[in-house]
Amino acid sequence: MKVQWYPGHMTKAKRAMQEDIRLVDLIIELVDARAPLSSRNPDIDELGNGKARLILLNKADLAFEAANEAWSRYFKSKGLFVMKLDARNRGSMKAIIPYIMEACHEKLERDQRRGIQNRPIRAMVAGIPNVGKSTFINSLAGKAAAKTGNKPGVTKGNQWIRLNKQVELLDTPGILWPRFDDEEAGTRLAFLGSVNDEILNKEEMATELITWLTGTQPGLLGKHYAIDEEGKTPFELLESLAKARACLLQGGRLDTLRASRLLLDDFRGGRLGRITLELPEDVPSAVTDEEG
Ligand code: G4P
Repeated sequence: MKVQWYPGHMTKAKRAMQEDIRLVDLIIELVDARAPLSSRNPDIDELGNGKARLILLNKADLAFEAANEAWSRYFKSKGLFVMKLDARNRGSMKAIIPYIMEACHEKLERDQRRGIQNRPIRAMVAGIPNVGKSTFINSLAGKAAAKTGNKPGVTKGNQWIRLNKQVELLDTPGILWPRFDDEEAGTRLAFLGSVNDEILNKEEMATELITWLTGTQPGLLGKHYAIDEEGKTPFELLESLAKARACLLQGGRLDTLRASRLLLDDFRGGRLGRITLELPEDVPSAVTDEEG
């Protein structure tokens, strides 16, 4: 069951994050590469103040490559360490540990100055639901995930996974709540399936997605579903899609709800191709941040 983000849940999640953050040197923050700002909880900047930070542009395999590069440059310009990733790909995990060390260079240097030796870097993974946190932890820790067990001072239930001699990872990710301050960000998260869409009107979401897709990539839907895009309203296009994919109700009426689910699933699963919903220059908050 997906969690609804009522204020009580948010307070609880925030408190849990605050407790976990106290235990770590580094926060590995996963965002969705298709909408890196909309899928990022801005509160993490305040919560993670003073900690080393690494942003992973996850699901980069589903996003435009040029856009991944643009977002990498954007986060680097903010002084953050950033890496694009497909968390399902275990092969790409090799590069992460050296990068974690690099992101924690200040702590390592500080330890060295103080004569502290062999104190491992402790890291935690955080992000909004469905961004790939569990997939990432599983890929990174792999079979060899040697849990070091509960140690004094560690919140009960938290276990450390030893990645190597120098890096330990908290085994449960910090769940951040999605941002609510921006309607456009909310729509993007809904397209990506990162907010509870049981409560959302699927046909409305599908027609909004059709509006966005026909506006930014005319011809894509026509080609993928073998339908004619010309001169149709978004809802008429949804009906054409229902017809093309034989989404029919009893009596032969078009099942536009099933067609909506199909479209959203295809979009989320990358079957419409690699797509990025926002670029740094399109997002007013990104530009404002840049200037600020
Ligand atoms: P969470 O812990 O942050 O909630 O996310 P989780 O790891 O459960 O991942 C959510 C979905 O995203 C999963 O798909 C997972 O396979 C997929 N995923 C995670 N990272 C990547 C990535 O880098 N690229 C792509 N393309 N997909 C990714 P699912 O359909 O919900 O489950 P599954 O049947 O695929 O396991």
